[in-house]
Amino acid sequence: MPQPIKVHSQHPPGGRCTLYALYAKELSSSLGLDRRVVHTDRRDAHGEGFPALLVKGVALQPSDGVILSPEDICAGLASAGLDLSAVPDLAARLEAIQERFLEGVECNDKNEGLSTRCIHAGEIKDAHGSPHTPIYTTTTFKFDSTADLLDVVEGRKAGSLYTRYGLNPTLFSLEEKLAALEGAEAAWVFSSGMAAEASLFFAHGRKGVVCIGDAYGGTMEFLSSQLPELGIPTYFLLGSELDGLKTYLEAGAGLVFFETPTNPTLEVLDIRKISAIAHEYGALVAVDNTFASPVNQSPLALGADFVVHSATKYLGGHSDITAGALMGSKHLLASVWGWRKNLGQMPAPETASLLARSLRTLVVRVERQNATAQAVAKAMSRHPKVARVLYPGLPDFPGHVVARSQMQGFGGMLTIAVKGAYEDAVWAVDKLKLFAIAPSLGGVESLVTMPVTTTHHGLATEERVRRGISDTMIRLSIGLEDAADLIADLEQALG
Ligand SMILES: Cc1ncc(COP(=O)(O)O)c(C=O)c1O
Repeated sequence: MPQPIKVHSQHPPGGRCTLYALYAKELSSSLGLDRRVVHTDRRDAHGEGFPALLVKGVALQPSDGVILSPEDICAGLASAGLDLSAVPDLAARLEAIQERFLEGVECNDKNEGLSTRCIHAGEIKDAHGSPHTPIYTTTTFKFDSTADLLDVVEGRKAGSLYTRYGLNPTLFSLEEKLAALEGAEAAWVFSSGMAAEASLFFAHGRKGVVCIGDAYGGTMEFLSSQLPELGIPTYFLLGSELDGLKTYLEAGAGLVFFETPTNPTLEVLDIRKISAIAHEYGALVAVDNTFASPVNQSPLALGADFVVHSATKYLGGHSDITAGALMGSKHLLASVWGWRKNLGQMPAPETASLLARSLRTLVVRVERQNATAQAVAKAMSRHPKVARVLYPGLPDFPGHVVARSQMQGFGGMLTIAVKGAYEDAVWAVDKLKLFAIAPSLGGVESLVTMPVTTTHHGLATEERVRRGISDTMIRLSIGLEDAADLIADLEQALG
């Protein structure tokens, strides 16, 4: 008997989308059916779109009105006139999929607020009373007997074994916290954001990756030159070219990847809409949530299948650690594990502990950065030497409406385009005193860069223009200094 599926606030439609995509994959391989998971116009209790599984244009209906069960699917297929006799164990296969999904859903069945999760999620009970998880600076773990070792090696018992495998209590504890922050069933921690992306692309992008909008320079390089060298097709679309997405999905691309808001133009991409299109073709969706952070945006709840982070930025928050994270369903993350293990992409336990330390203050840091960035954006939009301010929190910003529908706060990143030429922008940047000229973001100290000299330095002028990046753009990462001091610094620099 299948168990009833729990759908709770941390797993609204993203969880259902994932389950339906898994059902659809099975139907496709066992019956040769088209894979189609679409969002209909219906809204659930969370106000979110309601996914449906379409078979030959007919939406299969959940008998409980909430979520499809294997019986619903078999009944729907029979009433659509499909002959199931060639696959007598179809119901059993779908039940196995549902059970695997349920294991993941149940592991995160808590409704605590984000600040509480930042502090308490994943912390282990320490025999000496430490209020947080200690650092296990060991590479290996000993066992009382060969039988005990084999229990862990052969997967009968969860346990620590070898740190490069990720089997270390400091890492387990951090991963539970990371998963809880994104409302995910599971999370893997990595030695950098690029390491997380690389393993994701190797595990789930081999049929082709579509990258939408602008992305971090390293991601662009990996996608545009390194993956194609391995024979993996990659495709690129501007955020304004979404109509072209179906062409690449029809060509077989299996993973859609994008940042939102993007770097450096802060373009806001519609996570619900892109996820719906991708799922219609059975493709998976990964959102780089580095700029927004889990405080401001929850891509899994909006329909994405994966969230990736450069934890070097807001999650780490102090410009003192390099790390990455990938969140998603247990089932989808399972195939990423081996890539991370054999590419040796684990952070050291010391780094993991520092990251867990930082996560405890994530909400207070990011809320303050949101408020200061909004004040700086407002002041800069009134400044006579500033031509444009790109910030999702400004009501006249083109992405503001979508940002309001999918973000709880607008983040600590903004870009200003000064009037004049490249030299005028360089002159202003070099006069800044509180903002440090440095190519990173998300830390407690405010940083400044010009995309044309850093992240987008290697791009041809026509390509920069096509992406809306000008020579006079200055990107600001707002730290935790007083808003008035940051505004005064910008005003004196602009002159
Ligand atoms: C949005 C975004 N994603 C991913 C990365 C890569 O992260 P890392 O430097 O931790 O490898 C960066 C780095 O700047 C980034 O800004």
